[in-house]
Amino acid sequence: MKKLLIIMALMFLMGAGAVEAQNSVIDNIMTRTSIRKFKPQAVEDAKIETMLRAAMAAPTAVNKQPWHFVVVTDKKVLDELAGKGRGGDMLRNAPLTIVVCGNLEKALDGDAEEFWVQDASAATENLLLAAHSLGLGAVWTGLYPIIERAGHVNSVLGMPEYIMPLCTVIIGYPDEQPTPKNKWNPENVSYNKFGNRK
Ligand SMILES: Cc1cc2nc3c(=O)[nH]c(=O)nc-3n(C[C@H](O)[C@H](O)[C@H](O)COP(=O)(O)O)c2cc1C
Repeated sequence: MKKLLIIMALMFLMGAGAVEAQNSVIDNIMTRTSIRKFKPQAVEDAKIETMLRAAMAAPTAVNKQPWHFVVVTDKKVLDELAGKGRGGDMLRNAPLTIVVCGNLEKALDGDAEEFWVQDASAATENLLLAAHSLGLGAVWTGLYPIIERAGHVNSVLGMPEYIMPLCTVIIGYPDEQPTPKNKWNPENVSYNKFGNRK
């Protein structure tokens, strides 16, 4: 019921039409919001696999799929990842995090190498949306390009240098119910030429 009310409120605020209101994919996108407090309950293996399958269904440049995912459920490793840095409490109190990495050995060459960041980001958004659709809460926490954060994760997880952690998605059953933000802003859109409004 709460989800329906949130959707209706968002649709009203955004002036969205009836098509979106009846579309479960759009509903899932519009009702996702970052969750930072989790119940201690473990996340089922089947749900973890579904999230990983959704992540790997993302598009990638030249279909390189230059990624690697590290699933962490071990409390000791979660504590090590949390370290002393900002955001550590979320990791310490979550049952699961999935570290989304670029695999630079599978990335494109030359100027195109950095496309791995976009590829892994697309996978991350798919993962977040899959988590939400499964009744889970999640938050994207950034690592790369902050070398200190990425280096810490790299060393805790014993990754080779060609594996670059982009972010870690902290996941669990939600223990908070924040209202999704309305970010619709027509000023961020141009039509045909930059700066042209509708
Ligand atoms: C690249 C990136 C890095 C982020 N890093 C963090 C982070 O370190 N800690 C955190 O709590 N949230 C982090 N977030 C989540 C954002 O704060 C959140 O997505 C934003 O405030 C919008 O809120 P929403 O996800 O509820 O729509 C990050 C998101 C992105 C895309």
